[in-house]
Amino acid sequence: MKTVIILAHPNIDQSYVNKSWIEALSKTNPEVEVHNLYKKYPDWKIDVAAEQALLVGYDRIIFQYPFQWYNMPPLLKKWIDEVFLQGWAYGQGGENLNGKEIGVAISTAGISDVYTESVFGTIDQLLKPMSSTAKFVGAKYIGHHTFLGAYTPDAAERLAENIDVYTDFITK
Ligand SMILES: Cc1cc2nc3c(=O)[nH]c(=O)nc-3n(C[C@H](O)[C@H](O)[C@H](O)COP(=O)(O)O)c2cc1C
Repeated sequence: MKTVIILAHPNIDQSYVNKSWIEALSKTNPEVEVHNLYKKYPDWKIDVAAEQALLVGYDRIIFQYPFQWYNMPPLLKKWIDEVFLQGWAYGQGGENLNGKEIGVAISTAGISDVYTESVFGTIDQLLKPMSSTAKFVGAKYIGHHTFLGAYTPDAAERLAENIDVYTDFITK
């Protein structure tokens, strides 16, 4: 299973969670490719053909990002809009993502208590656009990995444990 992480963090150098995830993974699983969108495209001019060619070479695609307004960072939205084209990702001749696995890894500041149906919605509910997108392009949605409550006093302790679960999610 060849895996690529499409990393969309607007400021990875200042990141705590996403940076820790990626750094740990680069030690345990250096074969996993990390494709850092904000580093690759500081001008937001996406090379669509190059991105499509990249995806063709992988069986599993993980979108990794910090939650922003219950959504993905804007460069990732732009990337999906531009890369998942009719005739490439769907429609006639659009079978390039068929059978691939798609998953999501997200971090949030909000604690688990707010990611419930009665408050902001469950993570499953909020990630519905991702699972629907996967379905639409004929990929298998493999679910999500999360780290909630990035700034709670026990975050460091929880993150140390979370990293192993993250690594399993990415590579299992
Ligand atoms: C513009 C912006 C919007 C954000 N929106 C949310 C949000 O909707 N829900 C949430 O729980 N955290 C939100 N956050 C907090 C980030 O998700 C949090 O800082 C990040 O996940 C921590 O991961 P990191 O250490 O890798 O940066 C937002 C942060 C920014 C900058």
